[in-house]
Amino acid sequence: MKDLKKLLQSMTLEQKVAQLVQITYAHISKEEAEEWARRGVGSFLHVLGDEARHLQKIATQSGAKIPLLFGIDAIHGHCLNKRATVFPTQLSMACSFDPELIKKMGRATAREVSADGLHWTFSPVLCLARDIRWGRVGETFGEDPFLAGELGAAIIEGYQGGDASIIACAKHYIGYGEATGGRDSYDTSVTYRKIKEVFLPPFARAIEAGCASVMTAYGSIDGTPCTADKKLLCEILKDGLKFDGFVVTDWQNVGHLIRDQHLAKNEKDASLISLEAGNDLMMNAPEFYESMISLVKSGGVQESLVDEAVMRILSVKEHFGLLDDPYKQANEDYLACEEHLRLAEEIAEESAVLLKNDGILPIERKYKNILVVGQSADDIRCQYGDWTYFSHPLPDYEQPPHRPYCTLLEGVRESAERLGCNVVYEKGCEIESNDESGIEVAVKAAEKCDLIVFACGDNIHLAAEGRDRADVTLTKAQNQLFAALCQTNKPIVSILVATKPLCIPEIDRSSNAVITNFNGGMFGGRALAKVLFGELNPSGKLPISFPRHVGQQPAYYNQLPGWHASSYVDMPNKPLYPFGKGLSYASFAYSDCRFDVQTLKLKVTVTNTGVRDGKEVVQIYFRDLVSSVMTPVKRLIAFRKIALSAGESKTLEFEFTRKDFSLVNAQEERVTETGEFEIMAGGSSDDGDLLKTNFVL
Ligand code: BGC
Repeated sequence: MKDLKKLLQSMTLEQKVAQLVQITYAHISKEEAEEWARRGVGSFLHVLGDEARHLQKIATQSGAKIPLLFGIDAIHGHCLNKRATVFPTQLSMACSFDPELIKKMGRATAREVSADGLHWTFSPVLCLARDIRWGRVGETFGEDPFLAGELGAAIIEGYQGGDASIIACAKHYIGYGEATGGRDSYDTSVTYRKIKEVFLPPFARAIEAGCASVMTAYGSIDGTPCTADKKLLCEILKDGLKFDGFVVTDWQNVGHLIRDQHLAKNEKDASLISLEAGNDLMMNAPEFYESMISLVKSGGVQESLVDEAVMRILSVKEHFGLLDDPYKQANEDYLACEEHLRLAEEIAEESAVLLKNDGILPIERKYKNILVVGQSADDIRCQYGDWTYFSHPLPDYEQPPHRPYCTLLEGVRESAERLGCNVVYEKGCEIESNDESGIEVAVKAAEKCDLIVFACGDNIHLAAEGRDRADVTLTKAQNQLFAALCQTNKPIVSILVATKPLCIPEIDRSSNAVITNFNGGMFGGRALAKVLFGELNPSGKLPISFPRHVGQQPAYYNQLPGWHASSYVDMPNKPLYPFGKGLSYASFAYSDCRFDVQTLKLKVTVTNTGVRDGKEVVQIYFRDLVSSVMTPVKRLIAFRKIALSAGESKTLEFEFTRKDFSLVNAQEERVTETGEFEIMAGGSSDDGDLLKTNFVL
């Protein structure tokens, strides 16, 4: 245990300022990296294994001898290292509605990150995805603040708890997913009241769970870049939420203040603005070093401000044991170990969502010859999504796919073999190319088969950071392929392997069944195949709504009540598939929904009325019926995933506090107003799936 104040006093100005800088390893030469380590820089990002250990050795033998903090984007597993486990993406795992499982995933990732000698992951993403044009929807836990908060807290507890713990980072603070036009890193036109009502709760929950770092978003709120927003960083986050970890900027946010946001004239200006606003560690901002030293020397900034930021970084380093043991590292055997691989498969299974089924599924033996069509079925890159060694190759890493994994096609072959069916594959078309020459071949194959499994979706060229889409449908070639397959009049089961919801009304209309698990990671394909063949009874639910058309957005379920028209002139205003939706091969009935206002407890009985055992995600929503500001038509306040055997009933009890029924009023205070409330229980956010009862507080 180190005396941090004493340590701070012993440091020179240069050593202190160096602690506030994070360097991108991949962008500089080995010699430059060594020089930064010698200066005692606070952190490096994106450096693995031996190289990290080499730099650590230099840092701990130079100047103030403070260990380096190594950060990495281990977003759905430690996937920039190709030897690691690739879990389903955040959006995919959110379909499981299972915090315990997600906590286990955090734990497994921590061990794999730590096995590389690293200490910190830039995860979880707690942005809300309410505009599917945005390229980063797949990195989120979906559209709902409560779900994002619960799953975020779970993954943080996984990262930061137990052996080989690593530091979590709640990002991107704040409103980043709500940027106007669905544009990545753009302005978000919301009020601070709305920030506190809608976007802050997941971050508040993360901090309650002990999250030790928060990343400032690229974007701006009503014209003020988050990097420059003292109210956001100091008043709301550090003072209001009592956040005692450190704030790291996003990549080059200091520079963006000059080049893109035009708030600062030069590097000194930008460095001053960033520090004064409450950022502690400047990601990929080497220019901050000289600028800040000269600012302090010339009296342009008080050294105490530098000290405050340094203390926050040192405290986290101390808390995670780095100052005592800079080489603390988990066993390398953790990388893609059997236990983690099985966990990745379990999460993929729990996250498969059946969106439509006219009765064709599960596939029976009568469909002897099955045609699988589509690039998404046979390309592991489509299944992985963003933030893997494919999308973010580190230097010196070759990028051929690394086993083990199971694509959809491989999964279908495995299951079909068990059932005694034959499988033929045709790509039909590439996702991105306009070459239609494969369509005819696919149609010929379809004519000879009994059932078509149509795999479709997007890939990371069509969705990722800076890759927003104005038209969020399937690509032209995929639509043409689908239309041609429909002409054969064979039964079609469509499988969406995609980073995020796409607008697929035609797929819904003309398919007999539709399934997705977004980007299901290493074993996403096998999980989907098991659902197809009934080896797995699906239990995933949507953490995000699917609009029918991009113009129908926003399609999220927890909207304010509208008036005048209840639909567009040219289409309904309801989404194609709403938040919380997901079918099963069992069926569930809800009864006896009772709320006791004295104890604030809700009881509801759920019965499996089907013939198969199954799992159901029981969801509880509420509505404030009269309030001082308008409140959403419903808001999720609890959920629980339960297993029910065929015919079994369970009565569940949920306990609430008055704060669960609160709102943020016009004065930006969180209050619970008295009056009448409606509480709802059911299997999705759709009114038709909910039992309702009223109470008065
Ligand atoms: C992204 C962050 C990421 C960082 C470091 C940025 O471009 O917005 O989410 O953690 O890069 O790779």
